Amino acid sequence: MGCSCSRRFIEEEDGQVRFRIIGGRRFHNISNSEYFVPNDDQEADRLIRYHDALKEIWGGLFHSPVEEKLRKGARVIDLGCGAGTWILDMAKQYPNSMFVGIDLSPIFPTEGLPLNVEFVEYNVLDILPYKDASFDFIHQKFLTAAFTQAQWEEKVIPEITRLTRPDGWVEMVEGNGCLISDGNVTKRISEAIRNFMTSKGMNYIIGEEIPRFLENTNAFSEIKYKKKDIVLGKKGGKSGEETLRFYTDGISSTRILLATNMNIMPEHYDALVETISIEAEKTITYMNHYRICGHKK
Ligand SMILES: C[S@@+](CC[C@H](N)C(=O)[O-])C[C@H]1O[C@@H](n2cnc3c(N)ncnc32)[C@H](O)[C@@H]1O
Repeated sequence: MGCSCSRRFIEEEDGQVRFRIIGGRRFHNISNSEYFVPNDDQEADRLIRYHDALKEIWGGLFHSPVEEKLRKGARVIDLGCGAGTWILDMAKQYPNSMFVGIDLSPIFPTEGLPLNVEFVEYNVLDILPYKDASFDFIHQKFLTAAFTQAQWEEKVIPEITRLTRPDGWVEMVEGNGCLISDGNVTKRISEAIRNFMTSKGMNYIIGEEIPRFLENTNAFSEIKYKKKDIVLGKKGGKSGEETLRFYTDGISSTRILLATNMNIMPEHYDALVETISIEAEKTITYMNHYRICGHKK
């Protein structure tokens, strides 16, 4: 049984349709982007909430050896910065450095910003308006659902390579789009998400491919790759509980799209998502995170 979902569009003054409203959530309306997660305040809150747990999981904000550069004064960009929390945290710790956060959608803050922070609305899939070798450190986090594999290889990695200064660093953190579990419902939802992403040309475990993409450019040395299994729910402690919430809130935010894709009613989909948390207490459920660093030659 399919669902009849409410869809509405927001018109800009110049007649351009900027956002789509689906099931009460706001989404971008940019034709070359397959990104399918909302860009509203509720999504900003989800991203902000997970920031501290993620720092705890990975033991800090970055792993590249850029501490000295940051202390002296570096130019840093965060691609797909979301609510901008990583940038704001970094900018506070490294006041001599300049931080730029860019995002497809205006979900970053715009007022009361520190002097060393700038947020701009840009699409990574377009050529960014920065000269070659403009940045000492390029950071990117949780963009697995933002690009098709072809876009990663043909647009994102070449653009990152172009923008990084010689002796600069790139660092990317990704999570796999699906959970690993013996729970039947968790498996069912994970398979539906995997199929949905695959149908859009996305690779839900792109984090495993990024080291190869960087190697293929011949522009990076010291490519480092780390993978973490994060146990979800109470068994994983506070960060496991926060990761479970981050994930289930994320897949709930796309309920109309995914319920339609699974050919079930949104209410049925909601019940399945709730069961993921119950299954996480009964069986081991985990997700993978990946962190990849590369040093520009
Ligand atoms: C899951 S959120 C992660 C946000 C942030 N990096 C974090 O970790 O909290 C993905 C972000 O990427 C942005 N995004 C998706 N496609 C993009 C593109 N083509 N160019 C710039 N940003 C993009 C989305 O708008 C969203 O804010």
